[in-house]
Amino acid sequence: MDKLQTIQEYQRKIKRVVITEEEIKEAIAKAGKQISESYDGRPILLVSILKGAFVFLSDLCRAITVPCEVGFMCAKSYYSGTVSTGVVKITMDLDRDISGYHVIIVEDIIDTGRTLNDIVKMLKARNPLSLRVVTLLDKPDRRLVDFKADLSLFTIPDYFVIGYGLDCGEIYRNLPYIAEYGE
Ligand code: IMP
Ligand code: MG
Repeated sequence: MDKLQTIQEYQRKIKRVVITEEEIKEAIAKAGKQISESYDGRPILLVSILKGAFVFLSDLCRAITVPCEVGFMCAKSYYSGTVSTGVVKITMDLDRDISGYHVIIVEDIIDTGRTLNDIVKMLKARNPLSLRVVTLLDKPDRRLVDFKADLSLFTIPDYFVIGYGLDCGEIYRNLPYIAEYGE
């Protein structure tokens, strides 16, 4: 893929800001407090699904005030343009036994639900003390498998979003807000 484009083209595709930095910050502070209050003395392991959730994880973990560890998994859902093909592949697994942890999966967005459906099944089989899912964004209109997060910070309609970790063709992850993408 030829990624050559002008800065004007790059900026033109950022259609409009959907969720501001301030709104994200506020929602994460609330979620961090909620997670901290559910701590029962046993360690929390935040499992971030790369790459999209790396920004969310870094802010969420700093809003948690009780002992917590972080872990990373890499899942790739294959895209044809902005449409998911339904093929999910785990390209990097966790580096530890999760049986002594309250695991919280930290995801950027739930779209069809396929990625998390697969990952939850896989991690449940490893017998964590408990398993919950926190997602920054949820697009319930797009669901193809029945999947619900335990905590969802924002629900959005069916449009393709970028920023705050989310990409289009690997670009735009570094925007500090969530924006609608358009060609
Ligand atoms: P699912 O398996 O269809 O739920 O797909 C989830 C994954 O697709 C997310 O973790 C994202 O990486 C990607 N994805 C889904 N919707 C969007 C979007 O609007 N913008 C960017 N990435 C998206
Ligand atoms: Mg992702």
